Amino acid sequence: MAQVRKYLIAGNWKMNKTASDGADLIKGIIQEVGEQTEVGVAVCPPFTGLETAAEILEGVNNISLGAQNMHPEPEGAYTGEISAAMLRTLYVSFVILGHSERREYFGESDAFINQKVLAALESNLKPILCVGETLEQREDGHTLSVVSRQVNEGLKDVPKDKADQVVIAYEPIWAIGTGKTATPEMAQEVHGEIRSILVQLFGEATAKKIRILYGGSMKPANADELLAMKDIDGGLIGGASLDAKSFGKLVSSALAASRATA
Ligand code: PGA
Repeated sequence: MAQVRKYLIAGNWKMNKTASDGADLIKGIIQEVGEQTEVGVAVCPPFTGLETAAEILEGVNNISLGAQNMHPEPEGAYTGEISAAMLRTLYVSFVILGHSERREYFGESDAFINQKVLAALESNLKPILCVGETLEQREDGHTLSVVSRQVNEGLKDVPKDKADQVVIAYEPIWAIGTGKTATPEMAQEVHGEIRSILVQLFGEATAKKIRILYGGSMKPANADELLAMKDIDGGLIGGASLDAKSFGKLVSSALAASRATA
C-alpha cells in the first residue's frame, strides 16, 4: 500500500483474558513489538482489562489501547453499557464498532452503529468500523452491495475533517475464527471497493489517508501476502492476538510490508 498510510495491527481479544492474564499478555507484546514506531499497534482487551492495560502501557508510546464496543449516549440509564467519556479516562484511543458478533448476537443495526461512530469521533476516539458479508451473501454474489451499505450507513454524517480518524475493518464473517482466510485477491477486491466509496464520501485526498484493515483468521502464515495488497493497510486480529509471539510476528510482517513500499 502507499506510504501515506501507516499500517495498523490491532488485537481484538474478544471475551478472553482476565485483567491479570491480560497484563501478562501485554507485557509479552511489549517485548515482541520492541521499539519500532513505523507500524501502529493496538490492543483491545475486554472492558475489565482496560485499566490494568492502561497502567502497563503508561510511557509505552508505540502501543495504543482500544475498546471493543461503547454506547452512543454520553451517560444515562443504559444498564451494562459504557460511554466514550469513560473510555477516554482510561487512555483508550481506538474503539471497535459494529463487529459482526455484535451485529449478529446483539442485534446491532447500521443506524445504531452509525450513532456510535459519530459519538466516538465527537470524543476523539478513533472508531474501527467493522463490515463484512456472510457466506450466504458471498455465494449469492451480494458481497459488494452488503459491504457498500454497511460502509455508507456506518459513516453517514461523518464530518470530512474527522474522516481520516476512522479505520475500517473488512472482516468476511465466514473467515472469522474459522481458519478460512479470504485470498489476497478476494480481500483486495473488497478493499478497493471500500476505497472508492471513501473517495465518493470524502474526496480522494482524505480517502487515501483512511486505513482499511483485513480481519478473519489473519495469522503469521498468511499475513505477508495479505499485507502486500494495495488497499490492505493492516489487520484486525482475533485468535492470533492472544499469543504475544504470533501477534509480534504480525507486527513484523507489517513492518516488512511497510518497508517494501517505502
Ligand atoms: P479471528 O478474528 O482473527 O480470530 O478470525 C478476527 C475478528 O473477529 O476480529
